[in-house]
Amino acid sequence: MAELREFVDILRAAGEITRLRLLSLLSAGELSVKDLTEILDQSQPRVSRHLRLLTESGLVTRHAEGAWAFFRLSDESSAATLVQHLLEQLDESDPVMQADVARLEAVQRDHQMRAASYFSKVAKDWDRVRSLHAPESAVEQAIVDMMAGIDVDLFIDLGTGTGRMLELLDGHFKKGVGIDSSREMISVARSKFERSGQKHVFVRLGDIGQLDEYQSSADVTMLHQVLHHFVDPGQALQSARQTLKPGGRIVVVDFMPHKLEFLREEQAHKRLGLSHEQMDAWANAAGLKVSNAKEIPHNKPSGGLTVCIWHLTDQS
Ligand SMILES: C[S@@+](CC[C@H](N)C(=O)[O-])C[C@H]1O[C@@H](n2cnc3c(N)ncnc32)[C@H](O)[C@@H]1O
Repeated sequence: MAELREFVDILRAAGEITRLRLLSLLSAGELSVKDLTEILDQSQPRVSRHLRLLTESGLVTRHAEGAWAFFRLSDESSAATLVQHLLEQLDESDPVMQADVARLEAVQRDHQMRAASYFSKVAKDWDRVRSLHAPESAVEQAIVDMMAGIDVDLFIDLGTGTGRMLELLDGHFKKGVGIDSSREMISVARSKFERSGQKHVFVRLGDIGQLDEYQSSADVTMLHQVLHHFVDPGQALQSARQTLKPGGRIVVVDFMPHKLEFLREEQAHKRLGLSHEQMDAWANAAGLKVSNAKEIPHNKPSGGLTVCIWHLTDQS
């Protein structure tokens, strides 16, 4: 429940067409200023000014990452409930709202196409690219250690790429499925497993956003170096969680926050690392709990990327 003054402040902040459109767009997930500017077709200073007002009034939260800033609807209860209620009253068939949704979908498709075209280009030498990131052997040993003693009938590797995690963890699961949206990555992985004759390992073309086929089936689902490619990693985590059996686990391996801006252009990164606070919030929102987190610092004197392995447990 909001107090009278707070209530009025919230209504004032939301009571403007562009800001209401922004709130509606952000109800679909986290977006950058760049995306929002493109969708609304307004100047960046103007969009930023509206976003600043929404942030100041507590309806929206801002997360800065290098030169980019991402916005999401606030989880703070009274503001969140009121905004949700306001948005529910909006007529979805309103032409302005429909155009916004169409442009949002176009922007999301564009993100996916850019990522897919990058992954198509690097599919063949992805294993080499991957080894440049971090102390690979230490990371892999820590992943194996974390899996020790867990009984796994089905292991799902989301964004499997060339299937390295399926190779590494073979012996820790009865059946392994790797899913990736890049045909090139999948074909490299598939030929690898066909050659080695591992009949209990499958790879499938698929999208992390559409995992209906794999609902409630996995004991462990992994996202290894995948979440930083999402504008909204929290949404990908929610989708991943649907694959879990009750009490199942998700293992996320990704970078800690960093400042290597060039990775956006050169390696299709959307997020410059993930923080513990973000992981806690995304996990909570998805009905998961961070039960373990292990950081593996880089060992490159000139600066590198620290990797973290987060272990998330389904709370149902
Ligand atoms: C950085 S690579 C990591 C590959 C592998 N997990 C590894 O560490 O070797 C990220 C992978 O995520 C895949 N990917 C990105 N977005 C995806 C999506 N929406 N659905 C499925 N796979 C996706 C890419 O095609 C790519 O193979």
